[in-house]
Amino acid sequence: MRSAKDFFAPLAVGAPTPLREIPTRPSRAIHFFDPSNPKMAAKVPDMVGSVDVLLGNLEDAVKADNKLAARQGLVEVARGTEGLGGPDSPTQLWTRVNALDSPWGLDDLTTLVTEIGDRLDVVMVPKVQGAEDIHYVDRLLAQLEAKAGLDRPILVHAILETARGMVNVEEICGASPRMQGLSLGPADLAADRRMKTTRVGGGHPGYLVRQDPLSSSPEDVARERATHQQDLWHYTIARMVDACAMHGIFPYYGPFGDIADVVACEDQFRNAFLLGCVGTWSLHPKQIAIAHRVFSPAPEDVAHARRVVEAMGDGTGAVMLDGKMEDDASLKQCLVMVELAEQLSA
Ligand code: GLV
Ligand code: MG
Repeated sequence: MRSAKDFFAPLAVGAPTPLREIPTRPSRAIHFFDPSNPKMAAKVPDMVGSVDVLLGNLEDAVKADNKLAARQGLVEVARGTEGLGGPDSPTQLWTRVNALDSPWGLDDLTTLVTEIGDRLDVVMVPKVQGAEDIHYVDRLLAQLEAKAGLDRPILVHAILETARGMVNVEEICGASPRMQGLSLGPADLAADRRMKTTRVGGGHPGYLVRQDPLSSSPEDVARERATHQQDLWHYTIARMVDACAMHGIFPYYGPFGDIADVVACEDQFRNAFLLGCVGTWSLHPKQIAIAHRVFSPAPEDVAHARRVVEAMGDGTGAVMLDGKMEDDASLKQCLVMVELAEQLSA
């Protein structure tokens, strides 16, 4: 089977931006746990190997009184859990530190890099406003890594959850070679934009389009005027995906707070997957399976993509397959699908 490189090297014009030299380990589900909660922390060892990423959350959802316990709890979890974090571990270890303007952000970074920097794969930074926030974290990480004698750089992931962050999304993506990816933070972003919602991610029944009436009879008008709920996050996700693709880093959806509504959760995740995201957050164990399923390409789509790759031969010209025209552009889409399937099965 040819790989994307075979095609993109000679056909460089219009080829997708290659991913930067960042480890392309699967991260379909980033499962959040609160390290200050002993019950949650105790479950972590059993989850290693069954989820792509475990993230010790120190920021929102951890009470102010528990911030130090959460930080210390994460150090203990990382030290005491075999196979969690570090090169070639089956489950990556990430953390979400407190915001850079909070009383805890600096100490979070200092303690974690010093104590468990060899296990920590990615630091998620909330409420990033612009490149300056990433520059600050980048410099600090460099100092702390040097002091701790670490030989593997810790990567940085930014949450897009302020209007200013959204406007600066491109400079944020390109602010450091440590940038691993971006997540959408729909709850904080909604508040910052003064959207009229009260939820953590997902849709809203009031955000809809209504079909024009086809008839002038009042009865028919009422029956015919079907409504369709729209995706509140379409623009934002697409904007984030473009910025990430331009800089060769990974885009993610974010939290879906209605844990009971697994159908709407799956729909939201799938929309993000189809638009280009590689993964999402999981706030409850039942969202892990949904994320792993949605962010893995369907076997029938992969089989079709492989047929197109074979049918396209040297990659030039056009062929007809099942009555549909395939060419260089559909080949490139199929290679994205095949590469993702290969990465996930590696
Ligand atoms: C996540 O942090 C959010 O604000 O949605
Ligand atoms: Mg937030």
